[in-house]
Amino acid sequence: MRTTPILALDVPAAADAIELVDYLGDRCRFYKVGSELFTAAGPGIVRELRARGCDVFLDLKFHDIPNTVTGGVRAAAAVGARLVTVHATGGRAMLEAAVQAAGADCGVLAVTVLTSLNAGEVAAVWGRGSPLDLSAEVMRLAELSASAGAHGLVCSGLEAPAVHGRFGDKLALLVPGVRAADATAHDQARVITPAGAAAAGARYVVIGRMVTAAADRRAAMERVLEDLA
Ligand code: C5P
Repeated sequence: MRTTPILALDVPAAADAIELVDYLGDRCRFYKVGSELFTAAGPGIVRELRARGCDVFLDLKFHDIPNTVTGGVRAAAAVGARLVTVHATGGRAMLEAAVQAAGADCGVLAVTVLTSLNAGEVAAVWGRGSPLDLSAEVMRLAELSASAGAHGLVCSGLEAPAVHGRFGDKLALLVPGVRAADATAHDQARVITPAGAAAAGARYVVIGRMVTAAADRRAAMERVLEDLA
């Protein structure tokens, strides 16, 4: 299965986002809009990307009561988002509500355990005893997400092989933390190359500073495409 690169528009304003999208042209046709850009620019940025023929991953990580998440996901799908994120820890009813609200043209991706949390922090937040097996927690939440009908899961390249091995095509995996083999990891603890993510079973890779912080962003995006080819 082909792995689709999604470029993260981690910029403060719509003008910066559109400038980058127009600059990359055909090299990238799928963009991630996260909470920074969405809060600053509003749904108009999603419409602008769609008007340019691009697909949009709206990464707002909804986590609320089912009725509220229904409204948020329905609005995201209506504005043209192709993918949206919700927290798996919102529970089965919330996940099912999100899947139903997304409809046929928008996929719900579940976030299991934020990669910024370590086992001790998860144990403290959820009142569990330590030591806690984080990969078992990810697998448990993956099971819940799959049975609730989620399109896929956000997971690190480290977890992807086990999740892909267990669920196969039942869950589309989206892998962030992607870097060129010779590059700096920035603040990411677990990084993987585009080809490594593809081999690990990723359906989508989220590309951030590997391209956005490159001196030549077109050349950097072309390297991603070559690596995935
Ligand atoms: O620049 P970098 O490649 O680190 O950016 C990664 C993008 O993926 C950012 O938009 C970040 O919010 C997102 N992300 C992540 N780690 C996760 C989930 C999402 O880095 N576990």
